[in-house]
Amino acid sequence: MVPKISTLSGYIFEYQKSITNPTGFWANIAETFYWRKKWDQVLTWDFKKADVKWFLNAKLNITENIFERHLFHRGNQTAIIWEPNDPNDATVKLSYFELFDKVNQFALILKQQGIEKGDRVAIYMPMVPELAITMLACARIGAVHSVIFAGFSAQSLADRIIDAGAKLLVTSDGGYRGSKTIPIKQIADEAMESCKCVKTAIVLKRTNEPVTMKPGRDVWWHDLTQQINGTIEAEIMDAEDPLFILYTSGSTGKPKGVVHTIGGYMVYTAYTFRNVFQYGDGDIYFCSADIGWITGHSYLVYGPLLTGATTLIFEGIPTWPDAGRFWEIVDKYQVNQFYTAPTALRSLMAMGMKWLDGKHLTSLKVLGTVGEPINEEAWHWYHDHIGKNRCPIVDTWWQTETGGIMISPLAGIIPTKPSYATLPFMGIRPAIVDQEGNELMGNSVEGNLCIAYPWPGMARTIWGDHERFRETYFSTFQNLYFTGDGVKRDEDGYYRILGRVDDVINVSGHRMGTAEVENAINEHPLVNESAVVGYPHAIKGQGIFAFVVCTEFSTGGEEGVRNSILVGVSKFIGAFARPDKIVFVKGLPKTRSGKIMRRILRNIAEGQYTNFGDTTTLLDPDIVTEIVVAAQKLG
Ligand code: WT7
Repeated sequence: MVPKISTLSGYIFEYQKSITNPTGFWANIAETFYWRKKWDQVLTWDFKKADVKWFLNAKLNITENIFERHLFHRGNQTAIIWEPNDPNDATVKLSYFELFDKVNQFALILKQQGIEKGDRVAIYMPMVPELAITMLACARIGAVHSVIFAGFSAQSLADRIIDAGAKLLVTSDGGYRGSKTIPIKQIADEAMESCKCVKTAIVLKRTNEPVTMKPGRDVWWHDLTQQINGTIEAEIMDAEDPLFILYTSGSTGKPKGVVHTIGGYMVYTAYTFRNVFQYGDGDIYFCSADIGWITGHSYLVYGPLLTGATTLIFEGIPTWPDAGRFWEIVDKYQVNQFYTAPTALRSLMAMGMKWLDGKHLTSLKVLGTVGEPINEEAWHWYHDHIGKNRCPIVDTWWQTETGGIMISPLAGIIPTKPSYATLPFMGIRPAIVDQEGNELMGNSVEGNLCIAYPWPGMARTIWGDHERFRETYFSTFQNLYFTGDGVKRDEDGYYRILGRVDDVINVSGHRMGTAEVENAINEHPLVNESAVVGYPHAIKGQGIFAFVVCTEFSTGGEEGVRNSILVGVSKFIGAFARPDKIVFVKGLPKTRSGKIMRRILRNIAEGQYTNFGDTTTLLDPDIVTEIVVAAQKLG
């Protein structure tokens, strides 16, 4: 088991050690895992080339660190608790033994379907235990999984499958989300039409929707699992072999396939999980994130299972059958650590206190948040009404690319401050730099958040495009990893994340590039061009405001085009990327060189209609007045 820090002085001591001797520090943590062969060297790195390697030439299989390492002591302990969408349906509990069996079985099936070490397997599934089983089965045989969030459209799914060159897709007939049924297989079918690389689709029966099974390509999960059973030797992998690809958005239109490798990711997710949440033996841990995002990968599946924890997977949504669902689950399973997103808290807070009636919440010890800045009001509501003033809140800052938590309190150890992610985790060296890249030393400073030294959990590349990896993260500031976030370090040295400083927006914890949404809008035949910005939204954190230029409107008028834009965005990306506000304008505020001045649009989206600063570089300054009038009309 990885060591657990349990006092503030312990944190200060370990942090110092991790900074003065990072390789010695991480080697000690790594020693607590099971390696088939230990490393020849702990770390080599060159931020100029974006080249980072941890635990060189070490050999292992991550699933042996989940199963073989734990089975002897905790084979009968529950590994996964699954709470179905409908609270009246039966819970599933899988012990480490049972999970091991299922992972082996599915690993054998993947092998039988021709999946070899290094092949990519795409996964497009609802939140069911089989999703975690598929990921672990891939890891067992050395295949690279690429989970695509089930809210993505057929087009987005196809783009990701093609980019990764996945040979096999694991999906389901449908999925439940509250009162809705999602036709997952139908969406997958549409995606597969354009993916020549996918030779096989394994389909789990979840909703019993009628689906078409394409002969020679589609096979039922239950047919395969009826035929095969047994164990499979874990494939021996290099520490730097890829474990998975996970797509995320950046400031350009094309999503990036972030690649995480096995050894470093394993060490980092397990160590952060144990220390940030202060997970102890027998605790029940519940993270409400979807496995389709990095939080689900690192803190629903890998971190907890590597720690021998009991992790709760919830299929449904926080507001169904009613807004007390999370709290009902906490009481039902006596959850000890609960990890969620600020947007979920804000939406529950807005639905009123009555959903807390009759809920005890006495089992809770630690509360966590992730994905976006948490406002003070939501923080206090969480602290007072959910944590009953007894549970520390860990506001965890990190990213898909960082693999694991980077800045966060250790629960109950580092004193918290509302809306502050507080202090860096072991081995993390934050650097705050100004626009010119000068590091701002000392306290009470604000600027761009960078990380000055490698950590084991960091992404190693972008699938198929290392140059893009280098350019995106390592070229803005010399010798630093640039996060894209703004940050403040206050008088006590505490970090507060201020949000993105690039063209990335964060809507209900979903990260997207403004360019991605613009591309989807521009697909509309009547749209000439568009510009998308984020604006403060009471529940979602940020809402999407789209400024759209159309030369003409069809018979449906503005309303007609607005609706078909929304349909189009759902089709190209997914419903979660639909703009909250669409305003039709005659033109966009552009400089003479053709660059859109987004600052002006952001001001207008925020309802600030005057004081635009210097607008003399604009090609047509009058356009601003016209946009203001149009935006005011929209309200
Ligand atoms: C971006 C990363 C990390 C898993 C979920 C999101 C924002 C994340 C916090 C936080 C303020 C946060 C940042 C970051 N973010 N956590 N605790 N406080 N902002 O992963 O989709 O890769 O997004 O989310 O802007 O850059 P992601």
